[in-house]
Amino acid sequence: MWVEILCGIVVYKIFRRFLLGEVEVPDFDAGSSNLYFAVASRLEKIYGGKAYVGLRIPDPETSSRQHIDVVLVTKREVMVVAVRNFSGFVLVGDGGDWVCTKDKKHKPETFPDPVLETARQVEVLQSYLELRGVSLPKGCLSAKVILPNPECRPAYSIAFQPEVVSFDKWVGLKSDVKPGIFSWIKDVFPGSKCEAQDDCFQKLHFILNTAPKWDRLEFIGDKSLLGEFIEFIGKPEDLQALRHVNRSEVGQFIVQKPSLFGLGRSRLNIIYSPRDFRGDAASPLEWNDIAVKPYTEILFQPLNSKKPRKFKLSNIASVSLSA
Ligand SMILES: *[C@@H]1O[C@H](CO)[C@@H](O)[C@H](O)[C@H]1NC(C)=O
Ligand SMILES: *[C@@H]1O[C@H](CO)[C@@H](O)[C@H](O)[C@H]1NC(C)=O
Repeated sequence: MWVEILCGIVVYKIFRRFLLGEVEVPDFDAGSSNLYFAVASRLEKIYGGKAYVGLRIPDPETSSRQHIDVVLVTKREVMVVAVRNFSGFVLVGDGGDWVCTKDKKHKPETFPDPVLETARQVEVLQSYLELRGVSLPKGCLSAKVILPNPECRPAYSIAFQPEVVSFDKWVGLKSDVKPGIFSWIKDVFPGSKCEAQDDCFQKLHFILNTAPKWDRLEFIGDKSLLGEFIEFIGKPEDLQALRHVNRSEVGQFIVQKPSLFGLGRSRLNIIYSPRDFRGDAASPLEWNDIAVKPYTEILFQPLNSKKPRKFKLSNIASVSLSA
């Protein structure tokens, strides 16, 4: 029987390579994209509600976009979250910046104070929501700076700030199911003093669903990358068909591989639905699909990178495009 299983695996590998080329997640620096999503889904699990990742809120004061890592909306609160993968000793330097010292071999690195950054983000978000018709009292918005790196050792002057969730506190949330944990959560995330109406929170979800965000590439194997989708690269006839899959018309598309032994169909299917302006991503109105050559690529500008990069469509599971 083992011989058969082994043969099966070999045949599978050969076919896979033959059809698609080896499927592998390309080697690139995803920056903090994956960390944002990991933190967001953990917050949703612990705290309920829905987390929005990689927002780019227009800031009239600087006429630029204010990046926000994660916004968690629960039934009673809006939490603006900054995620910082700092490692080593972290202290407040001259001028208020945070200084991280990894070890003796690395030069200390300086970063803007994330607590100040989130305070600014709360302001920008609050006025954006107001512009779109929801005015939230101050008590409904809070800010958190999560430091999820186990190697991060913040100085007391940082760790004691109520906005800061150090690794110890963060990892403490692991014991979700253990009794007594809720008193602890209350400690880190105290009960909200928000007095807003319930329908206000429904509107909030609509607004944040349709607010400007970074585009998101999801690779096969659960890795994500935030940034900006630029274009498809491929044969002219494929590009001609793909012109329908553009930002103004499509909010998300899924890449589907041919079935393993469907030799006749070594093309990739791009499945998309028209952008849903109801802001309800869960129930698409209709699905369309376009078959393209397997070596079609997309050009994508990752967040925190100066140069756009090409990615093979065959490595990609889905792409979300911000309006
Ligand atoms: C976070 O920092 C650690 C080094 O301390 C590094 O190994 C890891 O890849 C970083 N994670 C992300 C998502 O950047
Ligand atoms: C986007 O797609 C729509 C619908 O398929 C099409 O009419 C429009 O010309 C496309 N826009 C661009 C810029 O290609």
